[in-house]
Amino acid sequence: MARQTVVVIGATGSQGGAVAKELLGHPDSYHVRALTRDPSKPTAKALADLGAELYTADLDGGREMLASAFSGADVVYALTDFWQTQSTDVEIAQGKAIADAAAQTSTLKRLVWSALPDPVKLSGGQFLNVHHWKGKSLVTEYIQTEQPALWAKTTTILFPNYFENCLTTPDRYLPVKDISGTYTLTFPHSPQTVMPNVAIADTGKLVRAILEAGSRYLEKTVAFYCEGLSEAEKLAIIGKRYNVPTQYRQVSSSQFQKILQSRDGFSEEIALDFAEQLMIFEKCGNVYANGEFVQANQIPGLKLQTWTEFLDKNQLPLVRE
Ligand SMILES: NC(=O)c1ccc[n+]([C@@H]2O[C@H](COP(=O)([O-])OP(=O)(O)OC[C@H]3O[C@@H](n4cnc5c(N)ncnc54)[C@H](OP(=O)(O)O)[C@@H]3O)[C@@H](O)[C@H]2O)c1
Repeated sequence: MARQTVVVIGATGSQGGAVAKELLGHPDSYHVRALTRDPSKPTAKALADLGAELYTADLDGGREMLASAFSGADVVYALTDFWQTQSTDVEIAQGKAIADAAAQTSTLKRLVWSALPDPVKLSGGQFLNVHHWKGKSLVTEYIQTEQPALWAKTTTILFPNYFENCLTTPDRYLPVKDISGTYTLTFPHSPQTVMPNVAIADTGKLVRAILEAGSRYLEKTVAFYCEGLSEAEKLAIIGKRYNVPTQYRQVSSSQFQKILQSRDGFSEEIALDFAEQLMIFEKCGNVYANGEFVQANQIPGLKLQTWTEFLDKNQLPLVRE
């Protein structure tokens, strides 16, 4: 196969960084064009040192700017970062500009769009405030309905959910030690509520598997997770590994929202968004396990890290009181 040019949006971040690094490890097959707003930042320079072409672009720059960034590309790995602006309008505008620019890139063979499910459809209208899922799902709908050729000829959708949240946001995802020495984790789920989980560091492996599978995953949505695990199960494994007593504490969704506001500085609206996202799994089960999605953990030849393997590779910042 001829060497492919892969544009990676978010290359300096978690998801895109994993894609860029994996493909840079196969330089005979892939040339990586890493998009960043700031090529002088250390993560961008590190990618350049590994052989990436750095391309300065802002997703707010619109379709024409992105079309230039995609010029000659065989593949685009695309994401939007809701948390930068916490605005659905901005996220939708960015996503549509990506889709429109991809549609006008004549060389393009694959678009991998990292999205999230439609929270309203999925929950039968129970959860109306999960904006950071909704915006992405509206972009997916836009690709499917307004750019049908792009959808049919190039596109694969991903739905991820990271183990790494416990490293990037330990206050929310790791237990806190109390004066008795017990490590308590607080979530609005029952101890049995299973969530999909994956090491986002494995995104590169998944994308390479998709690119190397020909047309197999076109017009498909991949539920990107390795294991369905509850937060209580993950906590018990942490307790054993670090040999510390643990306790799982379930609070109500509204109590959890208040914690997000006071501890994490979330606005009322964003706290509701975040809590409702978690409650989808409480009320609707592991929605990623739906048969209409390709299950990443069943893709032939793709070995994803389990929670135990993730803990082997990553030291948790546990000593917080
Ligand atoms: N955490 C989870 O479990 C989870 C699960 C599913 C989906 N997600 C979604 O993942 C997204 C975040 O991805 P991530 O975790 O990889 O983010 P991250 O590590 O925080 O990195 C953000 C990346 O986005 C790029 N970026 C942000 N705004 C940009 C803009 N205006 N123009 C160009 N590039 C921009 C940044 O590039 P520069 O700063 O270099 O320009 C950076 O590379 C969010 O939308 C979130 O909803 C997260």
